[in-house]
Amino acid sequence: MSKTIIIVGASRGIGKELLTTFAQNENFDVHILTRNISELASFSAFKNVNLSVFDLNSIHVKEDAEKLFSSLKKIDILINNAGKLVNKPFLELSHQDILDCYQTNVIGVMETIQAALPKMLEIGGHIVNISSVGGFQGSVKFAGLSAYSTSKAAVVSLTEMLAEEFKETKLKINCLCLGAVQTEMLEEAFPGYQAPLSAKEMAEFIADFSLHADRFMNGKIIPVSLSTP
Ligand SMILES: NC(=O)c1ccc[n+]([C@@H]2O[C@H](COP(=O)([O-])OP(=O)(O)OC[C@H]3O[C@@H](n4cnc5c(N)ncnc54)[C@H](OP(=O)(O)O)[C@@H]3O)[C@@H](O)[C@H]2O)c1
Repeated sequence: MSKTIIIVGASRGIGKELLTTFAQNENFDVHILTRNISELASFSAFKNVNLSVFDLNSIHVKEDAEKLFSSLKKIDILINNAGKLVNKPFLELSHQDILDCYQTNVIGVMETIQAALPKMLEIGGHIVNISSVGGFQGSVKFAGLSAYSTSKAAVVSLTEMLAEEFKETKLKINCLCLGAVQTEMLEEAFPGYQAPLSAKEMAEFIADFSLHADRFMNGKIIPVSLSTP
């Protein structure tokens, strides 16, 4: 049976590579929620790919997501990949910087999940939250990422909370805390930094994890990093 897969945040970086990976398989019904769908024009040729404009940085994320999900019978996989990174010294962070990180990385993710859950609880489904090693307790920390990394730590906690709250249902939810990956986000935040993995390599890992890991784990927080914490 075909799988319905939602990817939030896919106009570039890891999300775009996830889309590329899933789009190749016609058994996957792929729904992309992202702001800049114009970046994905080449995917309009794929009959199994559906592109929708969606902004996590909005006060009506839940309503927008509910509308987009309303025609779907089920959601097998939801990958919360979108992320907002601000790299600024703590004392220079504006209220807006903090709000943008938390709205996109935490509140938007929570409300997207609220909209998706009715399509996942009974039939079963796998939510994969994409966090960062910066949000993983005990990892090496980078100065300047206090708004971003604390918001990613909230995604870790959210994963554990929802696994507990919905443990009697068929939902599975796990969280991947990524180390450095060569993407536009990394290049903008740390110009010149060379990550050990490409977006394509990481996307292939995440795609495989999202398809299979729910048979083996629930509520797990996994650092996906070549360095030790
Ligand atoms: N790259 C790394 O080294 C690294 C390390 C640790 C964790 N991560 C995490 O991995 C995920 C993917 O990162 P990446 O490096 O591929 O980042 P990226 O190149 O900046 O891509 C982020 C994606 O998120 C989407 N997005 C951003 N704000 C959004 C919003 N308000 N609403 C909807 N979509 C939004 C963007 O698409 P639109 O602009 O079209 O909306 C874009 O496709 C993020 O959660 C990031 O925090 C990355």
